[in-house]
This record gives sequence, structure tokens and C-alpha cells, in this order.
Amino acid sequence: MSDAYNGFGGIMTIVNENYLKLPGSYLFSEIGKRVHKFTEENPDAKIIRLGIGDVTRPLAPAVIEAMHKAVDEMADEKTFRGYGPEQGYSFLIEKIIRFDYESRGINLGVDEVFVSDGSKIDTGNIQEIFGLENKIAVTDPVYPVYIDTNVMAGRTGTMGMDGKWSDITYLPCTAENGFVPVLPEGKVQMIYLCLPNNPTGTTLSKTELKKWVDYAKTNKAIILFDSAYEAYIQEDDVPHSIYEIEGAREVAIEFRSFSKTAGFTGTRCAYTVIPKEVTGYTSAGDSVEVNKLWNRRQTTKFNGVPYIIQRAAEAVYSEAGQAQIKEQINYYMKNAKAIKECLEGLGYKAFGGINAPYIWLKTPDGMDSWSFFDKLLSEYHIVGTPGVGFGPNGEGYFRLTAFASKDSTDEAIKRLTSPISTSY
Ligand code: MLT
Repeated sequence: MSDAYNGFGGIMTIVNENYLKLPGSYLFSEIGKRVHKFTEENPDAKIIRLGIGDVTRPLAPAVIEAMHKAVDEMADEKTFRGYGPEQGYSFLIEKIIRFDYESRGINLGVDEVFVSDGSKIDTGNIQEIFGLENKIAVTDPVYPVYIDTNVMAGRTGTMGMDGKWSDITYLPCTAENGFVPVLPEGKVQMIYLCLPNNPTGTTLSKTELKKWVDYAKTNKAIILFDSAYEAYIQEDDVPHSIYEIEGAREVAIEFRSFSKTAGFTGTRCAYTVIPKEVTGYTSAGDSVEVNKLWNRRQTTKFNGVPYIIQRAAEAVYSEAGQAQIKEQINYYMKNAKAIKECLEGLGYKAFGGINAPYIWLKTPDGMDSWSFFDKLLSEYHIVGTPGVGFGPNGEGYFRLTAFASKDSTDEAIKRLTSPISTSY
């Protein structure tokens, strides 16, 4: 035992050493650092950012109008609001249920929806209500938050030379298997699925998703279903919610966000659905309603989303709001189509971009992901996201987003399809 800890309280502050196991920095911070260095060295370069999935269209007029109105309410003694319910205001929850679920034949109770300030936050925090002994499964590649937050909690074991954590079950999703993950051979208890997928932009059919719900039911596992990109689905057989699958109410928690649906990345509003049937167990085998644990967690640790923002989110469901966000989504999906067609025209193998605002491409000539990142940045002044940043099976792949403006997207396409110039 070192001097730092004497077994009776310690003489120094001990940190959560799980943090020391994490890779140097969060993927998008690492990209930000590299881009910053490049712009310092090349101050005149006009960088096009197709890296982090951050939206660029301004908030819809209906949303802005509702936000202004809510600001005025806060300025008047008669309509001013102080602390709100941590779970969200019923005016928003009722709209969420009616428009996002009942419209698809799914019934939810108002106490099964928790409004929050982001799906990154909720998918990161949810693991906290589950025991450390649970085994987790993630697709590979995967949105890094699912893994990093489990590393912080101490649920992942150690990282091997292959970049994989010893206690995580990885479900490879590659061009070879059509990006369809295979069910784990052994038992896992917490399964993260993101559909439409970030980063690959691919989806699962209802039949494929049903296999996961059945697995979870058989094995008393819980599916953590991130559907932040559901508004981008264009094809018919793609489920928008996991609750479209029979039995999912018993085994699935669903995360949704206004970020990508309605341009709220800077405004922050999302929600998490936990049906009352979702059940966890004590080590003695007694069943526990997971909804109650999350409610306890949120009321203790979360202040709720500001009233003004929830009124803004509510306006997304007005007739005008729905039409305006549809227009925004179409705008981004036109970018996605153009990027994909450009890449295919250049001979790249490109995936996604049909039901999601991400295009996932195979790097040329077996180039590794970071080398391709450097090449794109230095030669074309375009920023993308290296596939390997999403997991070992992302090596040799690269992600581009459709979230830039049309002009920037067109300019990126022009650069990629013309002889390299020094004047970007
Ligand atoms: C991404 O680029 O993958 C997204 O911006 C992630 C996020 O929404 O946090």
C-alpha cells in the first residue's frame, strides 16, 4: 500500500482511476485540436467542416416565435416560472407522446417520458442505475460515449493491444456483414443500439431488430436504444421507435433528441423513454422497476430543462413547426445524397446517407483512417471523422456529415472532384 492511502481514510485525495484508463481525449476534442493546429499553421485556409455532426440551419421560425413568447412570460410576474419538474413539463411530454408515439400506434404514460438536455447526457448517465457486474455489448464501430462512460464507471476491464476492452462484447458492423450486428454468443445484460446508426448511417429492418428484442427478453437483458436520428428515416421498413417491435416495452429504453431533428444542438433538449415494464433485478433476484430508478436519479441530479427551451421544443409539434423541420431535414438529406453520389462517382465505397445524415466510406488503397483524415485536411481543407475513432472495426473507414450548409457541401464536392488546388 502506498503512502497515498493508509486504509483508514487516506492522506491524499484519490481520483477515480478509471478515468486514467480512457484514451487521451474524447474523439471530437482530438479532431478539434488537430484542426486548430492546422488553421494556426494555415491561417488563410477555408476549412469545410464535415466532421462533428453539428447542425448549421437556424432554428425554425415556429420555434423562435415560441421561445420569444416564453421569454416574455418569464418577464411577467403573472406568468413567471421558477423551478420546473425535473422530468419535464406535461405540455411537452403530452406532445411527444401524441406526435412521436401514438401516431405510430405506441401508447406511453406521461411518467414514462423524461425530458432532458441531450441524448449524449442520457446515454452516458443511464449506465449509472445499473450494477457494475453487468456485461455490456456495443456495436463496433460505435458512438464513443457509450463506451467511455462505462470505462469511467469501471465496467469495461482493461484495454488490449487491439484497442478493445476486455469486458465489453463487441458486435462488428462492417461492409462484409452489411452492417448488421450478430447476436452475442454469451450472455450480456446491457446492449447499446443506435439506429439509424451513428457513425455508419445504416439501419436495421423490423425483422432484424425483433431478434434483439427477443434476445433481451430471453436473457433478461436491457436494450439502450439511441434513436437520435429517427427523423432522417426515409424508407418504409425502418423502425422509428424500438417500441414498434412487439415485446420491446419490457426490455428497451429509448433515447431521442431535438438536436438533429429540429436544430437544437445549441439549444439542448431531448428525452428518454422508460416504460414501466422495463425490469432490472437485485443481486438477490428481486425485480425492480427501472423507470423508478431513473426518476430517482433525475430528481436528485438533474435540474430539468429550462421552461423557455421546453416551450421551443413544444413548437416543433405545431403544424408550422412540423413543416419547417421537415424542410430542414430534406435540406440535409439533399446534402447527404450529393456527398454520397460524389464519393461513388470517384470510385469510393460509400454507405449510409439514405436514412441518416452520415456517409460512411471505405478509405482508398487500404489507407488508415487518421492518414485519410490528414490527407483530406491538408490537401482539400475538408474535415471529416476517422472511422477508427468509433472503434477498431472503424479502421479503414471515414465519416462525413451532411450537416454543413448547402454551399459548403457543394464546395467540398467541387474540391474533391477537381484537381487539387492551393487556393482553398
Ligand atoms: C457526432 O458527430 O457523432 C455527434 O455530434 C455526436 C453528438 O451528437 O454528440
